[in-house]
Amino acid sequence: MEAKKIRSTFIEFFQSKQHHYVPSSPIVVKNDPTLMFTNAGMNQFKDAFLGNEIAKYPRVANSQKCLRVSGKHNDLEEVGVDTYHHTMFEMLGNWSFGDYFKKEAIEWAWELLTEVYGLDKDRLYVSVFQGDAGDNLGMDQEAYDLWKAIVPEDRIIMGSKKDNFWEMGDVGPCGPCSEIHIDLRSDAERAQLAGKDLVNNDHEQVIEIWNLVFMQFNRVSDGSLKPLPATHVDTGMGFERLVRAVQHKSSNYDTDLFAPFLAALAKKSGKVYGEDLSTDIAFRVIVDHIRAISFTIADGQLPSNNKAGYVIRRILRRAVRYGYTFLGFHEPFLHELTPLIAANFGDIFPEVRQQQEFIAKVIFEEEASFLRTLDNGLKMLDQIKADLKATNENVISGKTAFDLYDTFGFPLDLTSLIARENGLSLDEKGFAVEMEAQKTRSRAASESETGDWVMVNEDQGVEFVGYDYLKAHCQIIKYRVVSDKKGDKYQLVLDKTPFYAESGGQVGDTGWLISETEKVKVIDTKRENDLIVHFVENLPKNPEAQFGAEVDAAKRFATENNHTATHLLQAALKEVLGDHIQQRGSLVN
Ligand code: SER
Repeated sequence: MEAKKIRSTFIEFFQSKQHHYVPSSPIVVKNDPTLMFTNAGMNQFKDAFLGNEIAKYPRVANSQKCLRVSGKHNDLEEVGVDTYHHTMFEMLGNWSFGDYFKKEAIEWAWELLTEVYGLDKDRLYVSVFQGDAGDNLGMDQEAYDLWKAIVPEDRIIMGSKKDNFWEMGDVGPCGPCSEIHIDLRSDAERAQLAGKDLVNNDHEQVIEIWNLVFMQFNRVSDGSLKPLPATHVDTGMGFERLVRAVQHKSSNYDTDLFAPFLAALAKKSGKVYGEDLSTDIAFRVIVDHIRAISFTIADGQLPSNNKAGYVIRRILRRAVRYGYTFLGFHEPFLHELTPLIAANFGDIFPEVRQQQEFIAKVIFEEEASFLRTLDNGLKMLDQIKADLKATNENVISGKTAFDLYDTFGFPLDLTSLIARENGLSLDEKGFAVEMEAQKTRSRAASESETGDWVMVNEDQGVEFVGYDYLKAHCQIIKYRVVSDKKGDKYQLVLDKTPFYAESGGQVGDTGWLISETEKVKVIDTKRENDLIVHFVENLPKNPEAQFGAEVDAAKRFATENNHTATHLLQAALKEVLGDHIQQRGSLVN
């Protein structure tokens, strides 16, 4: 059965059991501060579990794009080194929101695996939560009894909180779970040692494929468990692993999900997959990472210098370096795999097809920019390795790792990976100290000192009249001095002002304050909460006086036009190129 058919069979099976198909939510999480990326199918249903929202359908089935490279669920170091972890993977799930519970979840899972996909019952093991004293929870007897009716008791394994109590993060919905594991070893190997002893033991051929979570609690920030208003089912099956089991392969990468990608890489590099351990890891890392990178870019997360963007940049740089060192790619190559992403995943995830060209462009730019410094960085690392060897040391210092980061764009985990490959370790604490020192230096460089407000006239509130007028009679309510390396400037608050404070990307107005005796130039206007603050280089000699505030009309008019034009441009780009066009920031001056 081809992967596409395996996926559609899952959805159809649950549709036949009155489940509604729901498309995957984006892999990039925008509205949940506890998560950067979707790390489980249940993320989009979190509010339904917590009772904050009524689920649209009581039964749902889907295939969710997930990324596990940060936070509580992080598999990055395993990816490519082994044959069954991924950065981005699809999680097939069926869901009950306050509807069916353990009985149906267990019975349907078994039916699908053994009767529909035809997996060998003798190769399957199941696990049940054994209870946890710390959380004051007993064993999951109900799940145990349900499994006992289906499988021989010696195929049921009792599991600890670590393996059999599923939590989304430090807080959030959670509950005991039952996992289904499969033993994919040869018959001879199975005869020698029971698969049961290898479950949850990091064995490449004895792997978890499906996790049935029985959502019953909410973990709150003091660490305690509160019962949920209703009980729910959240199941997650690793699609790539299922495909491997159904297709009788010994590695996820040998399935038709990855084969076209491996073939393309082999063709381009002239190397053969399956001949050498280091090259094989490189092949696997690259074909894994290209999926993660493409899917996140399609969902609007561009590689960048911080937060979620930096996670993507790190993954991309890791792939580039594997290609460079082990497959001999010294020119951008990753972007050439994006047509395969579109061709293989465009049916179920149309966004990767719609945005194929855009994804390729972003990846190309990133690759090209990292390749400009990669070679010099690797040369520096070679020198470091030689120096350490000469002095019989084996720790790369924090300072060195920081220089590699700062000068050559080497993410810390990349340096650490190269260190490991060479039998060296890395002083991560030292790196953190250097990083902090740099932050302090840049803070100091931009530091300024702000004096206290000095009252000049009575404060009866601030009136903004700038939408209708470019001139107004006004008084200064208060001022303060701001000193930095360049000298002193002043900030004024007026009782009435036509000056537009910087906002929505439109720069603040400039202009003049004119009294009978003097004319002071306003060089900028910004907002500080409810205050409109006018920046001037010289304090008026007679601040109590009456002033005429006058905006530089020609500049304001041009700026307003440009602001409108940015919105028109944005709308036109969306219309012509598509909805993936997003404004990331704006400077209208
Ligand atoms: N939430 C569970 C998991 O991620 C099952 O979907 O493993």
